Amino acid sequence: MAVGVFDSGLGGLTVLDAIAARLPDLPLVYLGDNKHTPYGVRDADDIFNLTCAGVERLWAEGCDLVILACNTASAAALKRMQESWLPPNKRVLGVFVPMIEALTERRWGDNSPPREVEVKHVALFATPATVASRAFQRELAFRAIGVDVEAQPCGGVVDAIEMGDEILAEALVTSHVEALMRRMPRPEAAILGCTHYPLVQAAFQNALGENVKVYSQPNLVAESLEDYLKRHPELVGSGTVSRFLTTGDPVRVSGKATQFLRYPIKFEAA
Ligand code: DGL
Repeated sequence: MAVGVFDSGLGGLTVLDAIAARLPDLPLVYLGDNKHTPYGVRDADDIFNLTCAGVERLWAEGCDLVILACNTASAAALKRMQESWLPPNKRVLGVFVPMIEALTERRWGDNSPPREVEVKHVALFATPATVASRAFQRELAFRAIGVDVEAQPCGGVVDAIEMGDEILAEALVTSHVEALMRRMPRPEAAILGCTHYPLVQAAFQNALGENVKVYSQPNLVAESLEDYLKRHPELVGSGTVSRFLTTGDPVRVSGKATQFLRYPIKFEAA
């Protein structure tokens, strides 16, 4: 019984970490497509093909349920996968919806019509591909009315994080926040719409100021997965061991992952 966690690289480890803390007995198989990271500057067809290949690899590990711990894949590929590609006995879930449900104060799976919510001005920080997809605004419109979303494509941040260059990542975060705040001076909430960004969450909060509530995904996704597995226990697949797989160089990726999460992680070649 294993659940798969997929990301273009290392960012999804922030989600995996939160899931492992909440569901310690659940075997998790992580796949980072480090060979092709970043996804955020690719086109939608490319992201779709790479994501499908990654998900198929996780099926081979006995994961019938795969979490796309990647907003870019969730935004650019998930709908198409669910509509035209996924066999009936498999499920793929994205990381957008739990965050939008938290923002709109809904319980998981509440499909009632959209309604007014407290927060009116929302800043979205994400990769260029996620921003271009407008998937966040589409999902939000199913649940809430009257919310103004200003989206900032945060070019370069994922690369800086993958390179382990914290100083550059923080400088880029500050300049992206400043750019957004020139267009929306007083956001009430900010969405970190990329699973890499929790690694620089403090930089976002500093640049935004303490009055802005920052929504970050890992805990929200973990809570929502726990709830989902209670409702669909049959979707825990046949795999029994936790593994970390990468399409990149396992030694290099293990080193970076250990540096990010601050505990040893050993990746194997996918
Ligand atoms: N961490 C991913 C996301 O949540 C992808 C970043 C990238 O590959 O550009 O969007």
